Amino acid sequence: MIYGFIGVGNMASAILRGMAKSGRFPQGTLYGYNRTPKKAQALQEEMGLCLAESELDAARKTDVIVLAVKPQMLEGVLPKIAPALTPEKLIITIAAGKETGWYEARLGQVPVVRVMPNINARVGASVSALCGGAFAREEHLSLARAMFETVGAVYDVEERLFSAFSALGGASGAFVHLFIDALSSAGVQAGIPRALSQQIACQVVAGSARLTAESGQHPIALMDQVCSPGGTTIEGVHALKRLGFESAVHQAVKAVIEKDKQL
Ligand SMILES: NC(=O)c1ccc[n+]([C@@H]2O[C@H](COP(=O)([O-])OP(=O)(O)OC[C@H]3O[C@@H](n4cnc5c(N)ncnc54)[C@H](OP(=O)(O)O)[C@@H]3O)[C@@H](O)[C@H]2O)c1
Repeated sequence: MIYGFIGVGNMASAILRGMAKSGRFPQGTLYGYNRTPKKAQALQEEMGLCLAESELDAARKTDVIVLAVKPQMLEGVLPKIAPALTPEKLIITIAAGKETGWYEARLGQVPVVRVMPNINARVGASVSALCGGAFAREEHLSLARAMFETVGAVYDVEERLFSAFSALGGASGAFVHLFIDALSSAGVQAGIPRALSQQIACQVVAGSARLTAESGQHPIALMDQVCSPGGTTIEGVHALKRLGFESAVHQAVKAVIEKDKQL
């Protein structure tokens, strides 16, 4: 199976590196075409990416066509790849906000798999949502799963929930960065040097996430275990609750979903 990425920007580069590193996609099976050749050429040197000469060339030479341009560029890209499409080709799109039906309306009865990864793919820690269009079969979904599993976890998510997923599994990464920065600057205020404080904050967030995921316990049960009666931690937890921490998170997720629906 030959894979062709149209658009070799931030996300595509992360996915291509993950695929190459996994050892499951041998040299000669990964193609890329980028509007500005420099980015694809850099990956050619780094990991042996094969270069396509145009959108059409990428579509012609490959079995799986991955659309990784910005959503507003798609309207121009689809007519260019259309002449190469056959029922055997699979389209995988990672573009935000465009439903599988949008592609089918423009390309006809082609199998389309929609995937929403996140930027943590850069360190192999993405969480990706995946769904198939009207003409996608289980084999197409399996193929897409195998690709995105090289950069993190993959979940089958109904397409109607993609908007919610893009808030919970995508934008929330920015919320976590904000939390890490707030924690680390509070550490600085308490006298810990900035670099050490940031490392500690990252470690705590990663460690607590791992404990919740691996213990299978409810996060509030885990929180209770570290809140001794009359102790120090419960004071901090109450301060956060009093200041509306949980409500702020709920409102932030809702705001992202609302905005996504307006686009
Ligand atoms: N970044 C994320 O966290 C994230 C998460 C989930 C989904 N996505 C989706 O992933 C897609 C790519 O996002 P990104 O962040 O990787 O953007 P990006 O870094 O801007 O990459 C897009 C690439 O597409 C290239 N391009 C534009 N038109 C092209 C064309 N006609 N043919 C070939 N290449 C073309 C651009 O080339 P130039 O070098 O010439 O600009 C650029 O390198 C978007 O649809 C986005 O919604 C992104």
